Amino acid sequence: MSNIAGRVTLLIVLVATTGGCAMSEEIRRIEEMKKLNQRRDQQMTTDLSGQQIFVRSCNSCHPGAKAGMGPALDMLQDHFPTDDKLKKFIRTGVGSMPPQPKSILDDQELDNLVAYLRSLKVEEKPFGPQPAR
Ligand code: HEC
Repeated sequence: MSNIAGRVTLLIVLVATTGGCAMSEEIRRIEEMKKLNQRRDQQMTTDLSGQQIFVRSCNSCHPGAKAGMGPALDMLQDHFPTDDKLKKFIRTGVGSMPPQPKSILDDQELDNLVAYLRSLKVEEKPFGPQPAR
């Protein structure tokens, strides 16, 4: 009689522990997948400089940071007083301007790009004679 009770207890203990094991195994596998995806995302990017990224992804619409299909980028200080605002805008995109997710542009590259944009001196010279300086 007590033998049966013992077996039942053993069975319960077995199910509980192996069940727990399978669970943590599953969690470990999910974590593994997450790391793999992260690594893959990083490998898709190429550690480009700000200027290289600009030429690759921005210059077609903002040629030399001047107006093209997109506006001239000479008002960034007014429109995006903080780097965070500018980064958020670049990540999200707007209208025909495409978003730049992390799979295309990692955080380091975005930093590089923003530093490059901040360093630009866009001179949109008006037509006609220039006043002497
Ligand atoms: C397909 C064309 C296109 C590409 C590529 C593009 N842009 Fe734009 N961009 C636009 C257009 C159009 C606007 C105006 C959007 C609006 O206000 O509706 C704009 C607006 C902007 C603005 C806001 C300017 C301001 O003063 O308000 C910034 C900053 C900007 N783009 C930066 C970038 C950067 C950096 C890249 C490259 C990662 C890029 N753009 C790539 C078309 C483009």
